[in-house]
Amino acid sequence: MSMRRRTLLKIIVLGDSGVGKTCLMNQYVHKKFSQQYKATIGADFVTKELQIEDKLVTLQIWDTAGQERFQSLGAAFYRGADCCVLVYDVNVMKSFDTVENWHEEFLKQANPSDPRAFPFILLGNKIDIDGGNSRVVSEKKANDWCTSKGNIPYFETSAKEDYNVDVAFLCSAKTALANE
Ligand code: GTP
Ligand code: MG
Repeated sequence: MSMRRRTLLKIIVLGDSGVGKTCLMNQYVHKKFSQQYKATIGADFVTKELQIEDKLVTLQIWDTAGQERFQSLGAAFYRGADCCVLVYDVNVMKSFDTVENWHEEFLKQANPSDPRAFPFILLGNKIDIDGGNSRVVSEKKANDWCTSKGNIPYFETSAKEDYNVDVAFLCSAKTALANE
């Protein structure tokens, strides 16, 4: 008789307020999108069951607040993380510039034994807006940053149109598993 152990993976989603973190998670887990903005306060998680090869995996995806006044997470929160998903809005330069800060802050708080090997994923969200004509961050710029951090996987996504959302979260699960 074979007993399959279920693996729990903790994924933390970080990025500026309004980039679409909550929408990406809602699209991934509930297949829903809302145009209305409601700021996340503190942090909350959703779970999703996945099968990756012969492994049963429970993804515990933590949505966090981009707005500083709603942030209330201590180092203990970050420490058990298996993957960090960084999100920016391809139409807002500042949200890309601050990815560097989120990355740094995560590493400072989570303090993984090998920071260069810790699994990150970068998502450039809202590529649907104006058919991509209002984007200000090029794919190359994002890819260059990812390369400079030790080849972080990069996906361009639309939570609104459900573009690349599944593949991006699947990738976060796979890189987290590989690092276990
Ligand atoms: P905080 O909770 O404050 O950190 O923000 P957030 O990153 O969770 O942003 P949220 O998911 O709430 O989305 C902010 C706004 O952007 C909402 O009005 C969404 O409808 C919109 N939005 C999110 N993703 C997309 C997308 O892919 N395309 C478009 N067009 N709009 C999006
Ligand atoms: Mg939110």
